[in-house]
Amino acid sequence: MNSGYPLIRPRRLRSSLKISNLVRETALDPSKFIMPYFVTHGKAVKEPIESMPDQFRYSIDELLKELKNVIGLNIGGILLFGVPEHKDELGSESYSNNGIIQSALRTIKDEYPDILAITDVCLCDYTSHGHCGIVDENGYVKNDETLEYLAKISVSYAKAGADIIAPSDMMDGRVKRIREALDDEGLVNIPIMAYSSKYASSFYEPFRDAADCSPKFGNRKSYQMDPSNSDEAILETALDLDEGADIIMVKPALSYLDIIYRLKLTFKRPLAAYNVSGEYSMIKAAAKLGYLKEETAVLEMLASVKRAGADIIISYYSLYAAGLLGARF
Ligand code: PBG
Repeated sequence: MNSGYPLIRPRRLRSSLKISNLVRETALDPSKFIMPYFVTHGKAVKEPIESMPDQFRYSIDELLKELKNVIGLNIGGILLFGVPEHKDELGSESYSNNGIIQSALRTIKDEYPDILAITDVCLCDYTSHGHCGIVDENGYVKNDETLEYLAKISVSYAKAGADIIAPSDMMDGRVKRIREALDDEGLVNIPIMAYSSKYASSFYEPFRDAADCSPKFGNRKSYQMDPSNSDEAILETALDLDEGADIIMVKPALSYLDIIYRLKLTFKRPLAAYNVSGEYSMIKAAAKLGYLKEETAVLEMLASVKRAGADIIISYYSLYAAGLLGARF
């Protein structure tokens, strides 16, 4: 190869830590991390999640204590998931003014008005059948009817203090319907972060244990994407952007770095990648067994997601990684 530059020697730029820091192409920034939390009813609850070591289901009072670290480490924001006390066919706690997320939002915003709070919008945590929408008598998810519920949930979260609405249900037309509903209520400045490319992935398994939201029958393959598809991610994302999505998302992250790269190049819009529960628990398990070193593996994994093109990284490792980054510099 002759690039026209004589005597280029890549190793020269790695000859000291200071020099390699200086020329590093990808820098992780905690203010671009989003930390997910599971919130539940009760007081003084900090219940370990078995499938996700070092993650917990928090009651609101316990979550408030934990959020001090979010501020201290300058984490970009939090993503809230509700673990309701009441489940039914229509997931009614999700849009109740006294639902777990609504209560959490009001308290968090009272205590820490500066925390950026994003709320996942989906029915699966709240429905007795565990599906992401309303189901008919044959167990099939009714897309259009579900949209009305998603709109109701979104408005309710925004009114309780959510800064960004993040629909993860994967119903067709949801972004448009949610945008209309927010605008009708005058909530025109609340952005939508759409789970645009959400794959039907095995890596959500630990989360379903954490949020108790496994479907009681069937699976999510009729509304989540086939892991073998890439062009479909372009289509789904284009539709979400057309419908008014402000931030797009790829989920999971690690097995879908090519999708992150492709979507960033194609759309050049703010892109979030969700480093999901299975990706977290895999490293936790391997580290526990002594098969790899957690600190370096985590930073390498997050850097790969950033390098692929993600602007925002949603990860259960957000606080841990921010701590490591703070210690390093
Ligand atoms: C709800 C939802 C899921 C996740 C985020 N929102 C579960 C699912 O779709 O089955 C998974 C997140 C994770 O694994 O960390 N629809």
